[in-house]
Parts: sequence; C-alpha cells; structure tokens
Amino acid sequence: MQLNFPIFPEQASSVAGQVDALYLFLVLITTFFSLLIAALILFFAIKYRRTPERQAEQIHGSTLLEIVWTVIPLGISMVIFVWGAVIYYHMERSPSHPLEVYGVGKQWMWKFQHPGGQREINTLHVPTGRDVKVTMISQDVIHSFFVPAFRIKQDVLPGRYTVAWFHATKPGTYHLFCAEYCGTQHSGMIGSVVVMEPRDYEAWMGGGGSQPLAVTGEKLFSELGCVTCHRADTQGRGPNLVGLYSKPVLLEDGRTVVADENYLRESILQPTAKIVNGFKPIMPTFQGQISDEQLNALVAYVKSLGQQPNPSAGRNMATAAPQP
Ligand code: CUA
Repeated sequence: MQLNFPIFPEQASSVAGQVDALYLFLVLITTFFSLLIAALILFFAIKYRRTPERQAEQIHGSTLLEIVWTVIPLGISMVIFVWGAVIYYHMERSPSHPLEVYGVGKQWMWKFQHPGGQREINTLHVPTGRDVKVTMISQDVIHSFFVPAFRIKQDVLPGRYTVAWFHATKPGTYHLFCAEYCGTQHSGMIGSVVVMEPRDYEAWMGGGGSQPLAVTGEKLFSELGCVTCHRADTQGRGPNLVGLYSKPVLLEDGRTVVADENYLRESILQPTAKIVNGFKPIMPTFQGQISDEQLNALVAYVKSLGQQPNPSAGRNMATAAPQP
C-alpha cells in the first residue's frame, strides 16, 4: 500500500522497524477492543431493550467470567510490557564501540563536535552501518534531541550528560528537532542529520583538516594546568587519569562510583563533590571558566587515556578516527 500521504516518517535506523512494529501492535489492539466494545454496546442495547413482557433478571457474580476478563487483559499487557522492555533496553544501552560525537544544545541551536575535531551547527554528518553515540549537554535549559526517522528522542539537560545512539541504515538527510519547549524560538531549533555512505563520510571527515577533539582536550589539559597535578605516574597531587575512564573509583567516604562522562564533568566543575580516596580536596573549580565544548574536549581526552595505556593516546585516537 503506497499512499502519497506518509503517516510515518522514513525508517532510517536499525531500531525504526522494531519501534514501528510495537506501535502498530498497540494500534491494532486498541482498534480491535474499541470496535468490539462499541459493537457489544449496540448489540446489547438492542437485544436487551425494555419490552413489556420481559422482566430483569439479577445475576450474582460469575467467577469464570471474572477470571477470563482478568487473565486476557493481563496476558495482553504483559506482551506489551515485555516487548516494550526489550526494545527499551536495546535503545538505552550504549553500543560497545561506537563513533563518539558530542552535542551541545543551547537556545536555539544544536552544536556538534566530532572525534576528528570537526564542528557543526544544526547539521550532523554520520555514516551508515555504524553505531553512533551522541553524548549531549545543554548550555541553558532542557532541550530534546529528536530524530523521527531514527525513532529516537532524548532530553538534553543542563549539568548532566545524556546519551542517544543510533545505527543509521539509509543515506539521506533527516529532520532533527528540539522536542522540548525551550523558549521563544523553540520551533526554530531544528536541523538535519546527514547520513552518508562510509566512503563519502570518510571524504567529508578528511576535508576539515581540524585538530582531533582529544588533542584539543590534551592541549587544554596542559594550558589549564591540570597536568601539573594529574601526572601519568603515581607522584601527582591528583589522581592519575590514565586508564580511568569507565573504571570504578573508590571515594574518600567509602563509596565507589564509575568514572563515566558525568563523573569526569562533575569532577572538573565541582572537584569537591567526589573526593578520590587518598587525595586531598585541593583542586580548584573550573565552573564558569571553560565552555561546554571545552569540557567535552577534556572529557574526550580523559576517555582517550582510558582506551590506551599511554598518555599520547589522543593522537592514536586521532589517526584511528577516519578509518572505516
Ligand atoms: Cu530547544 Cu526546544
């Protein structure tokens, strides 16, 4: 059935088909019961209408009937629950080796930073056939990253990273919307996701000649003086950051936290919030001194240290980025 009136946006990601199938199931179930109930109301209204010769009969409960109308809806809702949960878990769990992009939402635009250092506003270039993870932060209010063709929507918050990921399947240009009312020009906070064949994407990535994000972060790391305390040996006054990313960290108060993006960000902006066991709260805050883009670069740098056992990993990441 090919109508010239698309009810759904294109299916352009790996989860789009799954989301649509579940949605179609919900629509069919709802339609079926709506029609059934409407038909029964009509039928009973006519069949049991008031006539002079008929007397009302009282019915005092029916265990069988009650079991039936409990078990059937329970079964249907459990199908919806399990099906929905499976898709939700799949969509919420970040893939293991994604292409990592950073996004910053602000009134009223989307800014993106690629691992190769390319920066974009209101446009995001990605390749087909690869998991892309977008780690996002807002500079001001709550925004929401919404790409209908990928069937993903993720709130973008000030002060905390949130993540959206997708695996684009079809080259093309797709709408990007802000799906959270964020002020006067909320409706203008739109853009596009350009999905390219891997070869075209590589050409596009190679064209910028920019400095890889992790290298930008590495430079900032020494410019801001972080490097004087966070040394790559055990002699520093601050914790050694090599191999830190995604590992558990024991804190002074006995808690253990995982060194994810939000931990790194918080430790830069509010260093005293979580003191690492064995260290003193001597680090100054960088709140208000560095932009969200610079923070993303610093986080990308520390992450690159986590992936390689040597401090020059930023460069390795740089050369690795444009490979297929
Ligand atoms: Cu940003 Cu609506």
